Amino acid sequence: MLQKNYLYSFTYDNTEHELSNLEARAIFNQEATDKIIFSKIKVNPSSSAFIKNRLEIILSSENYPSLIEEIKKKKIAIEGFKVEYFVIKGDPTKYPQRLEKLKDIGYSIEGDPDYYHPTTTFGLCWHDGIWYFGLLIKDKFDWQKHQKKPCAYSNSIHINIAKALVNIAGQAKQEKTLLDACCGAGTILLEACFAGRQIEGCDINWKLCRDARINIAHFNYSTTIYRSDIKDISKRYDAAIIDLPYNLLSAATNQDLKHILTASAKIADRLVIVSTSDITNIIQDIGFQIIDYCPVPKKGNLKFIRKIWVCEKE
Ligand SMILES: C[S@@+](CC[C@H](N)C(=O)[O-])C[C@H]1O[C@@H](n2cnc3c(N)ncnc32)[C@H](O)[C@@H]1O
Repeated sequence: MLQKNYLYSFTYDNTEHELSNLEARAIFNQEATDKIIFSKIKVNPSSSAFIKNRLEIILSSENYPSLIEEIKKKKIAIEGFKVEYFVIKGDPTKYPQRLEKLKDIGYSIEGDPDYYHPTTTFGLCWHDGIWYFGLLIKDKFDWQKHQKKPCAYSNSIHINIAKALVNIAGQAKQEKTLLDACCGAGTILLEACFAGRQIEGCDINWKLCRDARINIAHFNYSTTIYRSDIKDISKRYDAAIIDLPYNLLSAATNQDLKHILTASAKIADRLVIVSTSDITNIIQDIGFQIIDYCPVPKKGNLKFIRKIWVCEKE
């Protein structure tokens, strides 16, 4: 019924809903409905904090018995396979029925299953009257190891936001070159390196550059971090991420913010900016237009709201 296609399922809390949508618009050009997206675009779930599963659809059918028949006809033969059922919003299938269905599929595949160290994981789910069967790739959350980086600052950006910024800047295009223009201790750099992105960092503060380098080396990643005022960087990038300084980390006046954004605007045509204040005027002054935006309340302190601005050269 369907061409080769992917079904993505999402997870996020209330504070991240808008950020997840902003990320989805940047990657997939659409937002999730019922926390799922169908797309031809292939993304590794672990590169996003919000994508839980990616099902590469092999078969789909409104009729469950015919889906099983079709699976049998494919004569899939794999040693060490596993089948998982994942529940999408609105799926009325109860747990015992789900187990039965997993058995049906297990018996339709040739080979011995391995539940603990599977070579291949198949997935089954139901959405809007249709059964979907395919290859399942789940977010293994191994990027959470970055929470234990050697040099950490309590006011660094949240890891989920860091991952989203990388995706919003680079979209689904791995070939895009990125700069973290105010990289601090490297929270965003770590997520970009984990996702295999081409990224470099810059920060004016030598101590933070040193800490960012320690963090990057600790996880065996490699990138270049310039100890520099952003104004002295002349290399060009496809996009720059700018987590602007605010009073907690370093005092910054409107002049300072304008200085950083003016310099970033000279070296990238796409800017993904994080601010705590309204910077609409500065964005206009540097000749960029806001193409997307979302507020992100801080977990545990909903009054502290970060603003994410996606801007492109006019
Ligand atoms: C909000 S912090 C970034 C935090 C970082 N994203 C993290 O999670 O660790 C802003 C950073 O901007 C840097 N900065 C301020 N002015 C700068 C400039 N002119 N050029 C480059 N970096 C600058 C500061 O040293 C500070 O590390």
